[in-house]
Amino acid sequence: MRTYEPEVVPESSAGTAKCLVLRQPDDWHVHLRDGAMLAAVINETARQFARAIVMPNLDPPVTTVVAAEGYRARILEALAPSIAFTPLMTVYLTDAIEPGEIERGFASGVFTAAKLYPAHATTNAAYGVTDARLVYPALELMQRVGMPLLLHGEVTDQNVDVFDREAVFIDRVLTRILLDFPALKFVFEHITTEEAVAFVEAAGPNVGATITPHHLMINRNAMFEGGIRPHLYCLPVAKRERHRLALRRAATSVNPKFFLGTDSAPHSVGDKESACGCAGIFNAPVAIQSYATVFEEEGALDRLQAFAAEHGPRFYGLPLNAGSIVLEQKPWRVPSSFAATDARIVPFLAGATLAWTYKGRIDDAERERSD
Ligand code: DOR
Ligand code: ZN
Repeated sequence: MRTYEPEVVPESSAGTAKCLVLRQPDDWHVHLRDGAMLAAVINETARQFARAIVMPNLDPPVTTVVAAEGYRARILEALAPSIAFTPLMTVYLTDAIEPGEIERGFASGVFTAAKLYPAHATTNAAYGVTDARLVYPALELMQRVGMPLLLHGEVTDQNVDVFDREAVFIDRVLTRILLDFPALKFVFEHITTEEAVAFVEAAGPNVGATITPHHLMINRNAMFEGGIRPHLYCLPVAKRERHRLALRRAATSVNPKFFLGTDSAPHSVGDKESACGCAGIFNAPVAIQSYATVFEEEGALDRLQAFAAEHGPRFYGLPLNAGSIVLEQKPWRVPSSFAATDARIVPFLAGATLAWTYKGRIDDAERERSD
């Protein structure tokens, strides 16, 4: 009988090298961009993940069914023909969003979820929501039809210290939304604090959270190590060490509320290494290898599959993927940059050597032969 127990098995053809075989994972939060940048990054995500929740923060943002269909078509066009990958589209909430548009998009399967960016919170968030109460009709509808709300959980109040903006968002906004919409399914995206971990743990099963590889691997010191490190700047910004440790505990706890979401967010080198550098870390090429490194360090490799391939689909009510991916326990040097048509993109952990090499996908028959 077919089973999906994650396993570390000796690789028959490579002597002592071990392989980690996991059910095919998904990325529940990614920025794929558009145009030349989309073409440069899409296959890095699609190589590792069967499906991904695609963020709608293009400029202009994806606010209609037609725009999401067009964007999905461009993603599929940019995809290498040999790779099976399903982009799951999201709609960008604005103050003026029509609940009817959201309902049509969800009913027709074009929208999987809706994203709420507080206005001006991050990249292309200028069109975001100025006051959560303005989208209450949309949230009402989403609660009724079971459509997930994805939240960028930071206040934008300039009087709040940038390192406190997530915790303050919980107190000022999230607690209120949960009280007003107790059955709304929502994902607290890219959590970075122990307060967020505690909030999600205490909430009902309708509340989940994604955790990025970078927030599991770096704390805020990394941004200033020997000088300013623009490629480690993202939003929400990395926090103190105790928060990183809380995220590691949450990710490896087998609590089904926590699942994989890379928040891979590419920007060109020029846009990062600038007097006003963009927020975002491009981690797609190193995503599963980074998570494997973290889970191994935590002595929890046997729990990686649940975090990477099971909790997310269960939260979204989608089937688990068939097929598997294989990582080999062999050093892999991360490329120093990737090429887009007219720019270069520096990935997370550029130039570093990771203990795990991503080998690719195998189907069920191949996996059975390797068992
Ligand atoms: O660092 C980030 N980059 N955080 C976000 O919320 C958006 C993202 C982007 O689109 O660049
Ligand atoms: Zn994001």
